[in-house]
Amino acid sequence: MKAAVLDDVGVPPHFGDFAEPEPGEGQVVVDVAAAAVNHLDLAKASGLVLHRAASDSVRGGVRRGRSDGPRPSRLLRRPVAPYGSWAQRTLVPETDLLDVAAGVDDATAAALGNTGLAAWLALSWRARLQPGESVLVLGATGAVGSVAVQAAKSLGASHVIAAARNPDRLQWARQHGADAAVVLAPGTDLPAAFRQAAGDHGIDVIIDPLWGEPALAAMQAATPGARHVQIGASTGATINLPATVIRSAELEILGFVVFRVPLQARRDAYRSLTERAALGEIAVDVIRLPLAKVASAWEQEQHGAHARLILTP
Ligand SMILES: NC(=O)c1ccc[n+]([C@@H]2O[C@H](COP(=O)([O-])OP(=O)(O)OC[C@H]3O[C@@H](n4cnc5c(N)ncnc54)[C@H](OP(=O)(O)O)[C@@H]3O)[C@@H](O)[C@H]2O)c1
Repeated sequence: MKAAVLDDVGVPPHFGDFAEPEPGEGQVVVDVAAAAVNHLDLAKASGLVLHRAASDSVRGGVRRGRSDGPRPSRLLRRPVAPYGSWAQRTLVPETDLLDVAAGVDDATAAALGNTGLAAWLALSWRARLQPGESVLVLGATGAVGSVAVQAAKSLGASHVIAAARNPDRLQWARQHGADAAVVLAPGTDLPAAFRQAAGDHGIDVIIDPLWGEPALAAMQAATPGARHVQIGASTGATINLPATVIRSAELEILGFVVFRVPLQARRDAYRSLTERAALGEIAVDVIRLPLAKVASAWEQEQHGAHARLILTP
């Protein structure tokens, strides 16, 4: 079969031949319909041993029914090494297939697999967002942030503030549910800008894939009792966080990683997320590329593609 094959650590995979997967007990071979290209895949694949199909960490693959008749699409959570989703076929434990709601195209379902789940679960499971609460989404132009803006609205948030560097791309967030936007421009008094954008709603939940100065400013603007969900560090790995900031807003700072969420919660979340996508409440900009273009997809993701890259084997 054809697959994205890693010949060396840290260099783009090439499109080539790879051994057909042979199922062991409790495993199934599936045809891959669409597979997302995530930062996580690049990071993990860069440290993988040689001669593996890229990459066993790819979680965004979506399967289609095979020759035994039409079956609903399902998300491949974790292919069995050395197989990955960037291939015509892959191998997965039967228990690792998550249901995709009817009516969602495969590329969107794949795009929602890792970053979409992160956004949805950070709000619903980690922050325990309640209808009527207000949410500030940092990095709202990114893969996690752009879903978080829409998911917050879909989960009943009364007021959603989108914050990011690029004013043009923030318009997308405004068109997809954000009630207010803050540009993370150098020299801006960010705590004041966040407070102004929040108005009387305050800020009950902060979704933070950035850390760095925007995260500190968000905490300074938060409503007492707010939950700050720490997801990633696109801006910087460390901040100087005065104790008074945490105390004065009685902040709950909550670390979050998708893979630590119990499997059943992930199943339920992915089902809900794809149902909302089917209803048009959650959209993702995707660029479809044939699997043969995997090296180009890798390079584009490394340089910050502004749409979700989806490989179609
Ligand atoms: N915890 C988890 O389970 C989990 C799951 C998925 C992702 N993550 C992490 O979450 C983070 C975001 O992932 P993603 O897939 O959304 O990435 P992404 O699509 O590349 O988006 C990154 C976002 O960060 C912004 N950004 C980057 N550098 C910045 C800087 N120096 N200052 C201000 N904003 C900056 C980007 O803004 P521009 O549009 O202006 O470039 C964009 O809004 C990453 O650290 C990733 O590893 C964690």
